[in-house]
Amino acid sequence: MITSRMASPLGLPNEQTPTLDLKRQIVVFDGGNRALKWIDPDHQPRIIPAFIKSFEPGFDDPTPDDHSIVISTGNDHFCLGAVARDMKGTPVFQDNKCELAKKLVLAALEPHSGNSAVTIDRLVIALPNSRNSTDLADLKQIEGTHQFTRNGQRITAVVHHVQPIDETQAAYSFAMKRDLYRSKRQLNGVLDLGGGTGIGRLYSVGGSLIREADAILPGTYDLARRISARITPQLVNSPDLSQIMDGIERQDFTLGTSGVQFQDAFDLCREQWLSDRLCRKNSKVGKLNFF
Ligand SMILES: Nc1ncnc2c1ncn2[C@@H]1O[C@H](COP(=O)(O)OP(=O)(O)OP(=O)(O)O)[C@@H](O)[C@H]1O
Ligand SMILES: [Mg+2]
Repeated sequence: MITSRMASPLGLPNEQTPTLDLKRQIVVFDGGNRALKWIDPDHQPRIIPAFIKSFEPGFDDPTPDDHSIVISTGNDHFCLGAVARDMKGTPVFQDNKCELAKKLVLAALEPHSGNSAVTIDRLVIALPNSRNSTDLADLKQIEGTHQFTRNGQRITAVVHHVQPIDETQAAYSFAMKRDLYRSKRQLNGVLDLGGGTGIGRLYSVGGSLIREADAILPGTYDLARRISARITPQLVNSPDLSQIMDGIERQDFTLGTSGVQFQDAFDLCREQWLSDRLCRKNSKVGKLNFF
């Protein structure tokens, strides 16, 4: 992308010399258990299903689309997103998203249009607990140079610094900025019910995270597991947990294309699942002001 004007090599004023904009100061990535999310070079949010599937080049090559990314790095060939789900790939919630992050993040390491190289100053990655040393070690491995093919384009990406961020932090900052809390003069909190983890966090009036009030519990996959246990006796095979979570999200509470309805099981399990979470929080911190 041609973005800046520089003095010409001859030093003539006002002459335009195109320069390639290789630099991205900040890239943000939330490699969730249910959805992979990032902001692209045009500042647009991208959200694709959190599935990964290896493939054999020349045999079962996937085609990239708006919700699918195809990556080759060395001898490792895999796709992410809708095509990985359709090819019966692995849902990220069945794995460890921090261990997988070095693969998943390649979706977000995208140069400006027209370039094949990018230098990223700060790669901000959301994770459930930014102090977990094993997770931090996994994420730190992303710093350095990556050479890979993304959707058929050869890319060289240099990541200078990986900055882990607690998953609730962005929601808290957003809520404060938009005045979403009833009061800013008391403790405020964020309840992030993700696919893999359900996180409850409190922030002081000054905006500091109160670590001793943290609650990190299983996310909606745990709700899906409870629903699965209730409906399995009526089925031939145990249901796919991803399909249960999809049905909740669509709010039709239907299992894939089978026509099986699980609304009653959902209503029952949701109450138990939510009360487990709220009891745990209330026992630690008393009255809360979540948004
Ligand atoms: N509009 C909706 N109504 C009801 N449930 C929804 C809706 N949107 C998403 N969900 C449910 O919320 C769950 C969590 O989605 P989310 O994208 O927050 O997970 P994630 O960030 O990928 O997971 P994690 O943070 O654990 O890594 C999904 O399983 C989905 O079933
Ligand atoms: Mg999340």
